[in-house]
Amino acid sequence: MILDDHHEQRRLFAILEQIDRNDVAALTAVWGRLGTFLEVHALAEEELFYPQLLRVGTGAGDKDSAADETIDAIKDHNEIRDAVAAVGGKKVGSSEWFEAVAAANEANSDHMAEEEREGLTDFREHADLALRHDLAVRFAVFEANHVTGVPAVDKDPKAYVAQHS
Ligand SMILES: [Fe+2]
Ligand SMILES: [Fe+2]
Repeated sequence: MILDDHHEQRRLFAILEQIDRNDVAALTAVWGRLGTFLEVHALAEEELFYPQLLRVGTGAGDKDSAADETIDAIKDHNEIRDAVAAVGGKKVGSSEWFEAVAAANEANSDHMAEEEREGLTDFREHADLALRHDLAVRFAVFEANHVTGVPAVDKDPKAYVAQHS
């Protein structure tokens, strides 16, 4: 589910590069969908995935523990939220707007690559199939329930881990 969302995010960033810069309505529509999706995806992970990773994970990639993976991910989610918010302050279709979108793309792609190597790898190695199935269904329901968006609220990474450990 998470990998599939990541592919969809990459696809939507690519579509923005295929739209005529003067087509403000099209840029607004696709960015509106992508910005909302980025927020909902991050919150779904924070509500559902990371608490379970903290329970079963032991570290993967460059991280020695699920706590380290999670602290890094929550910090990245805050950076992505800030980058999405920064796009909102620019005139759609302007050079500044495209630069802000590119900055959000960079923050998100750096995060996804790390998340795929660390938290997702750790979870595949340590979560049993029943947990993975249950979590995938709950993830799909969360995203369906929040398809029109969620409030973007930054979280303190260490407080988040303490709360869910
Ligand atoms: Fe994430
Ligand atoms: Fe993700």
